[in-house]
Order: sequence, then structure tokens, then C-alpha cells
Amino acid sequence: METPKVTQKMPYVIDLNPGKYYWCACGLSKNQPFCDGSHKSTSFTPIMVEITENKKVALCGCKMSKNKPFCDGTHKNL
Ligand code: FES
Ligand code: FES
Repeated sequence: METPKVTQKMPYVIDLNPGKYYWCACGLSKNQPFCDGSHKSTSFTPIMVEITENKKVALCGCKMSKNKPFCDGTHKNL
């Protein structure tokens, strides 16, 4: 199985407005932590997350979380 590129060994902590977002699973996007279509040369596809109210989220930057697209602390062991 392909391994995603580790973008950074920490989450992206950002404020999001309500809406649908596409988290980059491959690590190749130049618009981290969101998908910019760069996964097309890989077997990865983005993960959609729907936000229903303004909130701060911690999106995984290492791409190894077991609770994608959210950080679950896995980056601490990389
Ligand atoms: Fe990484 Fe789309 S660019 S999943
Ligand atoms: Fe990936 Fe925390 S940044 S698990």
C-alpha cells in the first residue's frame, strides 16, 4: 500500500466556518491541509469533512492518524 507524504508532524489547528471541506490524504497538496487535486497521480483520495458550526479543529498534518481527517496524536510517535 502507498504511504502518504508526511506534510508536518503536527496538526493544522484552524477555525472553520460551516461547510464541506476536503482534507488532503496524500500529503502532496500545496494547499495543506486541504486537497488541491495533486492526489491524481496516487491511489489516495481526499476525505470529506462537514462542519456544521463555526469551530476550531485539529486536522492531521502527518497523514497517519487513525481518526482521519482529525489528529489523534499518532504524530508523536513518528
Ligand atoms: Fe492530497 Fe488530494 S491533494 S488528497
Ligand atoms: Fe497526524 Fe497528529 S498530526 S496524528
